[in-house]
Amino acid sequence: MMADLALGSLLPLADAGGSFWFPPEASSVAAGSDFTYDFILWLSILFFVAICGVTGYFVFKYRKRPGHTEEITSTHNTRLELAWSIIPLFLLMAIFGISTYWYLIMVTPPTEDVTEIEVTAKQWNWTFSYQGNGLPAGKKFMVPAALHVVKDRNYQLIMTTPDRDVLHSLFIPAFRVKQDCVPGRYNKLWFRPTMSHMESGNEDGFMLYCTEYCGRDHSVMTARVFVWETEAEWRTAIVKGGDITQIKDLVTRGESIYNQNCASCHSLDGTVPPGGGPSWQGLWGKEETMTDGSKVVVDETYVRDSTKEPGKQVVQGYPDVMTPFDWGDQNDAYIEGIIAYMKSLKE
Ligand code: CUA
Repeated sequence: MMADLALGSLLPLADAGGSFWFPPEASSVAAGSDFTYDFILWLSILFFVAICGVTGYFVFKYRKRPGHTEEITSTHNTRLELAWSIIPLFLLMAIFGISTYWYLIMVTPPTEDVTEIEVTAKQWNWTFSYQGNGLPAGKKFMVPAALHVVKDRNYQLIMTTPDRDVLHSLFIPAFRVKQDCVPGRYNKLWFRPTMSHMESGNEDGFMLYCTEYCGRDHSVMTARVFVWETEAEWRTAIVKGGDITQIKDLVTRGESIYNQNCASCHSLDGTVPPGGGPSWQGLWGKEETMTDGSKVVVDETYVRDSTKEPGKQVVQGYPDVMTPFDWGDQNDAYIEGIIAYMKSLKE
């Protein structure tokens, strides 16, 4: 691995520790990616300077001036033709070789010792699900906007997007990895972090971006990547991050729940996404007509019942398609948050 890191630092643009141009090389493939980039860049700079230089020089040398007679342009030179065909051929083969070598490493996950993490991308947030690996048994920890991993371990992300959502793409610049998230499909992405976020000086973690334009809040669809030194630190961070009761402010808690669970079907601006439900704008306290003709006021009881049994009272004009939610022993904490958030939208 050290050899790879040295390789990445060979040319000045990229540096293992990060530079003005590039973030630090924090995964096992980062140095190879940077080397390929630098190789192509410097080759291009070399030819650009050489071609512009020669062009400028000839313009000067053969300029029209008193005492200089025009010469006939030569039409063929076999040695020159061979030189400018064969040299570029070898250069292109070198680019092909280097990039194919690193590409194959990037797309081929190790066959053993791989930890899987489920990723859900939707408008406009990321959720990472963890289980096993010493986490409390039988529980799935869903952590919004934070990808937690342990240094020098292999990871495979299993990424998806809900059916009614749009394309997103997960990009971690410090790891030099990127993969699309496609509605209704599972895409995979593997990496091995080689530098902790603390070592790199990013106390708040490495940046993770959505890099496929996905609508209004695309630019704020980000998350943080935390690379921990030990599995114990990793576990603590996940248990803390997956616990919604840690968010004490109820409106903020509700907003976080909304973004994770509700945002793809319920808008905040009065619009209704295809196949979605009533917008939450001005919804609190409103009297709605149900499919059976009865009238119901959107209050605490209605919200509580509708999360658990959405099909029981469906508002007229909307499809009966909502997924039931049950957050187990944290259900009250969730409902409290949702209600506080809906009330805050009324104001
Ligand atoms: Cu999600 Cu852009």
